[in-house]
Amino acid sequence: MLDLSIQKVHDEARQGEAFAPAVPVDAPFKKFFYIESYGCAMNFSDSEVVASILQDSGFGATRDVEMADLVLLNTCSIREKAEQTVRKRLTEFKKAKRAKPGMLVGVLGCMAERLKAKLLEEEKLVDLVVGPDAYRTLPYLIEEAESGQKAVNVLLSRDETYADISPVRLDSNGISAFVSIMRGCNNMCSFCVVPFTRGRERSRDAESIIAECTDLFRQGYKEVTLLGQNVDSYYYQGNNDKSPITFAMLLEKVANISPDLRIRFSTSHPKDITDEVLYTMAKYDNICKYIHLPVQSGNSRILQLMNRTYTREWYMAKVDRIRQILPECGISADVIAGFCTETEAEHQDTLSIMEYSRYDMSYMFFYSERPGTLAAKRYTDDIPEETKKRRLQEIVNLQGILSHASNERDLGKTFKVLIEGDSRKSKADWMGRNSQNKVIVFPKQHYTLQKGDYITVKVTDCTRTTLVGEIIQDE
Ligand code: SAH
Ligand code: SF4
Ligand code: F3S
Repeated sequence: MLDLSIQKVHDEARQGEAFAPAVPVDAPFKKFFYIESYGCAMNFSDSEVVASILQDSGFGATRDVEMADLVLLNTCSIREKAEQTVRKRLTEFKKAKRAKPGMLVGVLGCMAERLKAKLLEEEKLVDLVVGPDAYRTLPYLIEEAESGQKAVNVLLSRDETYADISPVRLDSNGISAFVSIMRGCNNMCSFCVVPFTRGRERSRDAESIIAECTDLFRQGYKEVTLLGQNVDSYYYQGNNDKSPITFAMLLEKVANISPDLRIRFSTSHPKDITDEVLYTMAKYDNICKYIHLPVQSGNSRILQLMNRTYTREWYMAKVDRIRQILPECGISADVIAGFCTETEAEHQDTLSIMEYSRYDMSYMFFYSERPGTLAAKRYTDDIPEETKKRRLQEIVNLQGILSHASNERDLGKTFKVLIEGDSRKSKADWMGRNSQNKVIVFPKQHYTLQKGDYITVKVTDCTRTTLVGEIIQDE
């Protein structure tokens, strides 16, 4: 058995994580690759596709850079800081490469796509540059690089979904897995580099998604997160006369695999999430009552400049609708502080929409201009950095208060919790999540439970980030 547990190399927010799989102890491989992933869940999921392709061509996974014949960084371009982190990491690899001259270094993902062959000139030690739609060609590119040439493939595709590739799970908790359901993005949010790095939107064959989720459940997984930049615009029409499958229909199909398999999804664009999706969520207990609904800004003028295609009022009505159909639903958001020309009053609108929406959690950023985006071409990045940072801090402070208030509202409530493992602080406690994606820690007591079990827990206490509870019944 391969031990492919995640090791978090950097413990930053969602947009800057990295991991490498553990060393396979009894693996039959002669060559080894080491991979770190940065950016969104899509990138982490892609790394599992890459691991599968590499394993098929004779490379085993290692957690030890020095042991690796091939070092890969699956990179993110979303903000300048994400790219800086990768560049810093690349300079750190110089030493390893000097110690092992035949070692190849490759850059995958969004930065590879954005910078293309320029990356080879800028970062002299890079041997391979491979964009998100070109991973199938990795074995050939590696051969090319091994023969001393620089290898690049950054072609974007209109139909690549890696549907037939069975990902090698780099996450060893064995309970939750990411399943990619679509790639690319057809929205043109003016601040965003993703449409340029990931190409046109395309949906993956529904049958291959169901097959992958069914297989995961058989292997003991209890939770799948369906991934896409904009999952609500999932739309799959097979080759024959089959009727098209929408996201709501896909959710229902996955929910029907087993009541013991939990389903999550990310990300929903507020303009695309439909009542049909909300009613499907209401119908199935195993579709988690949690929606990540990025707002970006609470001001209609800024939203228009961002090309988000909704107004403040429209977003608020969507939140109302969610609360009406799914009263127990958790809602979180992404927020950007200091977009071009944002005034103090417009920033206040962001704070007030956060209060209105009562987010349980948010990912919060200050605006970072990305070359080539609509905003970079059309608007001046005119908010001074210290103002951006101050506004961001106000947003972060408010979210802290909202998260705490949200947790306090849960005191005394009971939740069905999926146990993910030991609590980080004590082996005497379990850690799990409720349907709303909140972390709950509770004493193991005398119950014989294991990770992957469901158990009912009553909330007795909380902090800003965690609920504390106790088991109230044996299930
Ligand atoms: N497809 C997802 C998220 C994509 S990127 C969606 O549409 O919600 C994740 C988040 O990064 C975005 O929601 C946005 O809040 C943030 N982001 C994207 N580009 C950014 C930029 N140029 N500067 C700061 N934050 C940015
Ligand atoms: Fe970027 Fe907007 Fe697409 Fe999300 S929906 S990936 S923010 S362009
Ligand atoms: Fe980053 Fe690319 Fe994801 S830019 S956020 S890794 S799609």
